[in-house]
Amino acid sequence: MITLSVIKADTGGFVGHSAVHPRLMAEARREIERAKSSGLLIDGHVESCGDDISLIMTHTYGQEAGLIHSFAWDTFQATTHLAKELGLYGAGQDLLSDAFSGNLRGMGPGYAELEFEERPSEPVLCFLADKTEPGAWNLPLYRMFADPSNTSGLVIDEKMHAGFAFEVYDLHEDRRIVFDCPADLYDMLMYIGAPARYVIHGVRSKTLGMTAAATSTQRLSLIAGRYVGKDDPVMIVRCQSGLPAVGEALEPFAFAYSVAGCMRGSHHAPLMPVATGQAHPSRFDGPPRVVALGFQIKDGKLIGPRDMFDDPAFDGARRQAVEVMDYLRRHGPFEPHRLPLEDLEYTTMTSLTKRLAHRWTPITTEVATPVGG
Ligand code: 13P
Ligand code: 13P
Ligand code: MG
Ligand code: MG
Ligand code: MG
Ligand code: MG
Repeated sequence: MITLSVIKADTGGFVGHSAVHPRLMAEARREIERAKSSGLLIDGHVESCGDDISLIMTHTYGQEAGLIHSFAWDTFQATTHLAKELGLYGAGQDLLSDAFSGNLRGMGPGYAELEFEERPSEPVLCFLADKTEPGAWNLPLYRMFADPSNTSGLVIDEKMHAGFAFEVYDLHEDRRIVFDCPADLYDMLMYIGAPARYVIHGVRSKTLGMTAAATSTQRLSLIAGRYVGKDDPVMIVRCQSGLPAVGEALEPFAFAYSVAGCMRGSHHAPLMPVATGQAHPSRFDGPPRVVALGFQIKDGKLIGPRDMFDDPAFDGARRQAVEVMDYLRRHGPFEPHRLPLEDLEYTTMTSLTKRLAHRWTPITTEVATPVGG
């Protein structure tokens, strides 16, 4: 068995929240090389999307392994140190705890991990997003693993026809449920169509009995109790031979669907699929970006990556994202561009409620017109 761990954190933005400084990337790569030489990792790769660093690692320690998580934590401490030296924006932004204890659960960095028996050919996609929340993977996972209009394999591949089981987290109540699709599909959509609260954590093949996908499901604001930036989630999808083909797993992103995030984590905006070189959201801290790194895993080695959205076939989605961004921006501070009150990451409502309390009167009373001016 091997484990593929994708662990990510924003340890400082260059400039603002738009990208990672090259020196932080170099530092993370040095740490990964050291961990490979020491035998901790079989292989490792460092990539960024926006201002978030992702450590993509293979090893034999399993999921939520203390050794792997503490290595990631130490690496993010090192890049935070550098970020402070360079005065980068929000240095150490996602490191919410002072000290490491056991694993990264509830500490700020996001992680998606899959432990599996490597197949003779193991094609895997690692998706990294910036300026959005973990529920942003709900729509594409539904399309990949439950929508025959996206994935023809669900209809015509003997090994996919029985469907997939989806594990869904309720982030407000700390509970989970497994939906057996296609039978439970309509029930599941009632929940996952509300991605601020219900988030797909993993997907399993019913025929093969293997895990096919895993996402990072942490919500920073729920951990910290305040806004500390968006979660900027990651996701792993295994492909082919009874799982969605690589092209079926990428297809949902040919539509620039709307997600929560963007400026101040408080706006709806389209998710733009881009090559890694374009994963630097600068316009209104958006539009939110997603990159897809393709690997073939062989004896735990990461053969790759291929930059999967570096394909003109996604130009249409990129154009659509720009158009939708123009359209939404013209709403300014109005919904549906601005998030509904309960989902806003920033709010002045608490202080407004106090300050204006005495000026709210029942509609049936006489209106006092302000005088002066
Ligand atoms: P496999 O069953 O070999 O994964 O073939 C699916 C495919 O590649 C079609 O695009
Ligand atoms: P990040 O989560 O990417 O740091 O974004 C924070 C933000 O508020 C952007 O406007
Ligand atoms: Mg940031
Ligand atoms: Mg970010
Ligand atoms: Mg963030
Ligand atoms: Mg084939």
